[in-house]
Amino acid sequence: MINPELEAYVEKEIIPRYRHFDSAHSEEHVRTVIKNALELAKRYDVDENMIYAAAAYHDTGVVEGREFHHIVSGRIIRADKELLRWFTPEQIETIAQAAEDHRASSDRKPRGIYGLIIAEADRDIDPVKIIRRTVQYGFNRHPELDREGQWQRTVEHLMEKYAEGGYLKLWIPESDNAAKLAELREIIRDTEKLRELFDREYQRLRVLDFLQKNGISYEIYEHPPLFTIEEALSYWGQIPECTHCKNLFMRNHKGNRHYLISFECHKQMDIHGLEHALHQGKLSFASPERMMRCLGLRPGSVSPFGLIEDMDLSGADPKELFENGHRVKFYLDSELMKSERISFHPCDNTASVVITKADFLRFLQLWGGEYELLEVS
Ligand SMILES: [Fe+2]
Ligand SMILES: [Fe+2]
Repeated sequence: MINPELEAYVEKEIIPRYRHFDSAHSEEHVRTVIKNALELAKRYDVDENMIYAAAAYHDTGVVEGREFHHIVSGRIIRADKELLRWFTPEQIETIAQAAEDHRASSDRKPRGIYGLIIAEADRDIDPVKIIRRTVQYGFNRHPELDREGQWQRTVEHLMEKYAEGGYLKLWIPESDNAAKLAELREIIRDTEKLRELFDREYQRLRVLDFLQKNGISYEIYEHPPLFTIEEALSYWGQIPECTHCKNLFMRNHKGNRHYLISFECHKQMDIHGLEHALHQGKLSFASPERMMRCLGLRPGSVSPFGLIEDMDLSGADPKELFENGHRVKFYLDSELMKSERISFHPCDNTASVVITKADFLRFLQLWGGEYELLEVS
């Protein structure tokens, strides 16, 4: 058991420091590292209070910036006189070295078992999170790259670090990380699966970035991928006072006109109903290729936020453009205009984004294409 006084001190003085750090060094991160480290510690003859302290302090050095944070964490530990209440100076030195060694790389191995445990616990090999972080990093650091450029960068980084022979080194081969790494490698080998995860992430970032840049505030709710309205309703119930929508993407018979339709999620609309309402002749569902081309998204995540893709049409086939220069025409259920808050997927069905009606109308203005209200019974 962790010494209660040590724990109280860490909770009061150390953990709160992480609240000011970036998301890779958040309070959630340090709590995960503490949990992982204590779990690993059970397999070795180590002092769990020392492991606890090393895990709790391991990223405190971020206060002076990320670059040398491991070294600064060691310095903070050596300088913290409070630790003498629970540890000898020798133990404090071991804790400091463990923190310094948590960023160990293949050419510089941790000096002892404490460092090995902290370095291993610091690795969070959750395949989906790793892919998300990789795409986010590219998106933020290399804004000049387009979707294909970001895809290339993502694949290169994942191969270099996580594929067989990559530079990531696991210090404790029997840890959970080994199993998770095997899972990640399987995804990396499956280009189609990897591309799907990449597209989700990329598309979501693009939507949120667009909203932020245009001063549109939003709430975002995370959930597992939702493919049907029935699945979705069980999650949407937690979102207060808000209208949720079904979104369809259709093409005309000739295949040169595209229509996006959004209506209140409890309503039903069949193709004949739509043909009747839209007066655009015979309609059919657009293929995944058309969804990607026109809205930049994949089946299951159709959303009006995909209209962001319909803003720069410099490379589009002129035969597909309406007179106003856009490729998509948008129909929306007039009932949505009675709701103060509306939710859509950020072109990724693992989240729902809520914005106000006023902001949604502003979004449509920014898009600039043609939309029409539809009476849906
Ligand atoms: Fe760190
Ligand atoms: Fe860390």
